[in-house]
Amino acid sequence: MDKELRSRQWFGKKGKDGFIYRAWMKNQGIPAHELQGKPVIGICNTWSELTPCNAHFRELAESVKHGIYEAGGFPVEFPVMSLGETLIKPTAMLYRNLVSMDVEESIRANPIDGVVLLCGCDKTTPALVMGACSVNIPTIVVSGGPMLTGKYRGHDISTSDVWRFSEAQRAGKMTDEELFTAEACMTRSRGHCAVMGTASTMACMVESLGLTLAENAAIPAADSRRKVLAHLSGSRIVDMVREHLKPSDILTRQAFENAITVNAAIGGSTNFVIHLLAIAARIGVDLAMDDFNNVKNIPLLANLQPSGKYFMEDFFYAGGLPALMKELHEVLHSDAITVSGKPIAENYVKSECFNREMISTFDKPFNKLAGIVVVKGNLSENGAVLKPSAASPALMKHTGRAVVFEDIEDYKAKIDDPKLDVDESCVLVLKNVGPKGYPGMPEVGNMAIPKKLLEKGVTDMVRISDGRMSGTGFGTVVLHVSPEAAVGGTLAIVQDGDIIRLDVSAGLLQLELSDAEIDKRKKQLHLPGNLTGRGYVWLYQTHVEQAHLGADMDFLKGASGSEVLRDSH
Ligand code: FES
Repeated sequence: MDKELRSRQWFGKKGKDGFIYRAWMKNQGIPAHELQGKPVIGICNTWSELTPCNAHFRELAESVKHGIYEAGGFPVEFPVMSLGETLIKPTAMLYRNLVSMDVEESIRANPIDGVVLLCGCDKTTPALVMGACSVNIPTIVVSGGPMLTGKYRGHDISTSDVWRFSEAQRAGKMTDEELFTAEACMTRSRGHCAVMGTASTMACMVESLGLTLAENAAIPAADSRRKVLAHLSGSRIVDMVREHLKPSDILTRQAFENAITVNAAIGGSTNFVIHLLAIAARIGVDLAMDDFNNVKNIPLLANLQPSGKYFMEDFFYAGGLPALMKELHEVLHSDAITVSGKPIAENYVKSECFNREMISTFDKPFNKLAGIVVVKGNLSENGAVLKPSAASPALMKHTGRAVVFEDIEDYKAKIDDPKLDVDESCVLVLKNVGPKGYPGMPEVGNMAIPKKLLEKGVTDMVRISDGRMSGTGFGTVVLHVSPEAAVGGTLAIVQDGDIIRLDVSAGLLQLELSDAEIDKRKKQLHLPGNLTGRGYVWLYQTHVEQAHLGADMDFLKGASGSEVLRDSH
């Protein structure tokens, strides 16, 4: 066993090198026996007070450590850059790939035999999984868990209410003071957003991929069972090292198909598409946009906001992801292996549902519309995405006049202008918010309804952009248009007054112009260059791929393994 542990290439050495590797560890009060052949387990921690969703992770890491010690391993906690969705500017997505590099290189460069990834706020999950996949040593994910449901004036609230409150305030139905009071009512406990936003979607994604122990997705952060899960995960990773069970053994094509099926049934975030594509490309599984359209027969089973009524806390009490996956048993690859070393079916076959209003049966679904639909056409040759369960049925087939915003600044300047020539049948188009155009592809795709229409009571319109939408957002919103405007996609040549046709059931997004007119306009285009000549943003903007490929950087795809090529010691 000793010889097989990569940590022995450090701590097992004799002479000067071994002296150095061990001696400096001992300055932390570590007894010699801890470094004499135990599996060394890294705990990759995204704790940060600037990432409030992950601010409890040092405590969670302690539970992981207890489990690692219990199973005979030796834990070493290390930090990586953290990504807090609410504070980071211009958008946390700009740094997802940077964090993945941090994670990959931190794991490879250090004497680690296995790794526990502590993931929470939206981008921290895909970033850590992407990085770990490119090294491919035994890996287990522990999510931080959702907040408790917010309570405001007798109502349950969470992040999706931010959009509702904002529209209510703009329409004069909510005062500044009421809005201020609601802040603390919403975020009354530790944890990430309490709806099926991107963080919860990612927590479900890693569980359905098989990268976590059962029940990881929904245990609230404040529930003591979250710590128990962390403890058990710490114990399990030690055995995974002994069993040589690596991400590439777990993340098969079947595992990705399971994740897509589960995401449809939970009404997961559109961000799921972009992150899953990026993870697949790191681990070497062939996955494409069309794979997300192959689950049209999967209904929405989870009655969770923003597609439904309830919150993650309710989901956990109803049985959580295992209870939902049990309903999907017939359509899942039930023999896909998980971090437990056993088929994924063992995670859910014995589970029970305790609230059928929260988790419906497959035969009587909460909503027949589920999943993420990929729409293609001359306006999105490589595809764009829409979440039917969060959209208005009446707008799923719609033809309207384009009202165009050239970029985010143009949008902000005009959206509430009383002179804006817009009515509820129009299609709002926002350009240059894609991966390259607004480096990082911000979550601005669910543009606000123009104020003058809001005041008329309009609550939804067709909106199209090359940007993303928060997983907590909703509406008939077409996102991730690829190719994006900044690289000369058709989106770039749309003008005010052009006619756009969206037909979700036909999978169509069409600009009603002749090919000749589109070609003519494209020849006259002046594409924006890079925003900056240096640093990470330059690297990102130069190398980021389009949304339909996962918006990873071209040189990061694939894996380099765990071997350190040169050793100066
Ligand atoms: Fe962190 Fe929503 S802000 S999960």
